[in-house]
Amino acid sequence: MCGIIGISSNKPVSANIINSLKKLEYRGYDSAGIATLSDGEINEVKSEGRVDNLENNFDLKNLRGNIGIGHVRWATHGVPNSLNAHPHSSSNVSVVHNGIIENSTILKNHLINKGHNFKSQTDTEVIVHLITEHLKTSKLEEAITKTLNQLHGSFALGIVFKDMPDLIVGARRGSPLAVGYGPNENYLGSDSYALKSMTNKITYLDDGEFCIVKKDQVIFFNENGKKVNKKILELSSDEASYDKGDFKHFMAKEIEEQPTTIKTGIKEYIDSVNKEINIFNFPWKIKDINSITLIGCGTAYHSCLMAKYWFEELTNLDINIDIASEFRYRKNRFKKDSLYVFVSQSGETADTYAALDICNKNSMKTCAVVNVIESSIARDSNFVLPIHCGPEIGVASTKAFLGQILVLYMLALKIGSLRNEIEKNKYQEKIKELKALPGLIEKTLLYDNDIQAISNTFNEAKGSMFLGRGYSYPIALEGALKLKELSYIHAEGYPAGEMKHGPLALIEEGMPVVVLAPRDKYYKKTISNMQEVIARGAKVLLITSKSKGEVISENIWETIEVENTNDDLLPFLLTIPLQKLAYYSALKKGYDIDKPRNLAKSVTVE
Ligand code: M6R
Repeated sequence: MCGIIGISSNKPVSANIINSLKKLEYRGYDSAGIATLSDGEINEVKSEGRVDNLENNFDLKNLRGNIGIGHVRWATHGVPNSLNAHPHSSSNVSVVHNGIIENSTILKNHLINKGHNFKSQTDTEVIVHLITEHLKTSKLEEAITKTLNQLHGSFALGIVFKDMPDLIVGARRGSPLAVGYGPNENYLGSDSYALKSMTNKITYLDDGEFCIVKKDQVIFFNENGKKVNKKILELSSDEASYDKGDFKHFMAKEIEEQPTTIKTGIKEYIDSVNKEINIFNFPWKIKDINSITLIGCGTAYHSCLMAKYWFEELTNLDINIDIASEFRYRKNRFKKDSLYVFVSQSGETADTYAALDICNKNSMKTCAVVNVIESSIARDSNFVLPIHCGPEIGVASTKAFLGQILVLYMLALKIGSLRNEIEKNKYQEKIKELKALPGLIEKTLLYDNDIQAISNTFNEAKGSMFLGRGYSYPIALEGALKLKELSYIHAEGYPAGEMKHGPLALIEEGMPVVVLAPRDKYYKKTISNMQEVIARGAKVLLITSKSKGEVISENIWETIEVENTNDDLLPFLLTIPLQKLAYYSALKKGYDIDKPRNLAKSVTVE
């Protein structure tokens, strides 16, 4: 999704803006641009496509100036072309914007009536003209406050002014924005990652705040234009995670990292000596929680669905799950004894944040399961359970999915044991089995050549289906999402038992169908459903768990057997071949694996 960078320095900034924009590429975007200030002019360059195009199309060495803003745009209003790319400028003001201005049409008409000319199809351009208009009669802080008050919707903004060549204004509502501090220069960035190569000293703007960034000073203001003091945080430096190393793609690296990230997650939460799960500083009494609602989007929603099965089995609590974009607009009954869990890799997903905000406003107990611990969702939840996966750069979520379900599984086990729903020895047995999980994931990762060959058939097909029951159903949904997101192949995830109620009509000769049937309590039922699709011509890839030589069924096209473990943990292992299937299909098609078309890593607009 869109990304912002701003630098105010005592030396030329264009090269560092380009470097930082490259760091933001993982978010997914379709055009890029920069504006710098020099010799009383705004110098603006913009290109459709990648940041590389900016470098190829313009001589950036001539883009002079010690102050500037840059942007990667993921189109919302107006097609992705260089005209609609940011920055947008008037004769005096230049703006980069993440988010959506919902009342832009009304504001635009009003401004046109006042004589303003618009060049692009974007909502952002109204901000440029509003500020330009207010600066005719107001000083900077007042003009900014007036402008922000007129905007409906969400935004993070970076603004420079021809007449004030020593400062950048940053502002935030809904979309995240951070300020960074360096030697003789200060920065603005839509996430700390963009700033990481320059500084680890960061301040996050809270909703409604704006700031003035100069090379030697940063001043923060609240929504009423009153100065506020903000804390400077020091972020840990984990630059190595931002490097692909020997891998062709971040996604490949992130898939292979999973034994390590799962090991780290286990180490962070499990006390091996006492065979106990530690959820340190859990702020509520277990007896005060009678239901849990888990909320997320996309893959994170699949983690919630996965968790529902575990929580119901292990805690005997009332468990609900919801897609954040649905939850936020429904009439919800908030109960005092409910815990609301928000699952998000980035911690910045706009819909998930909005759902959290609603729960906070209703004084609910809120808990974040996030990867980015400095994120908005983490900061605004009552309690945070980090998944400890390290940065995930590939747009397709892989290691974060396993990290999310690991933390949710441990939470379910812990709550189940505190509620005396699990016997002590069973609880400790499950902890012991959990500790063996990284080794099992490592073995499952070895199925590489088989999956590469299998992916050819998926690439030739019109569409595919992913079936599973019980614990395997959320994994079927996740497998289908991965394939469609990366290979652009139509893929449907379904509960295997639902096939007869409609989707069976889709099955035709040669259609690839993935059947997830580990040897758990659903095994026989799923195998029956598998036979029904085979009878109708499907080419079945069966993913099951290892057995002692038993022949499962005839006419199966391909079989992959993951290691055996307890039923609770099989979903972790089933996920791995599906991640690889999506990866290899996309690789063979030559698609942009880390940045699939139309998608963004962090979905900061609704
Ligand atoms: O950062 P989040 O976990 O909140 O992101 C939620 C979804 O946008 C994300 O999981 C998306 O579905 C992934 N691209 C799937 O691979």
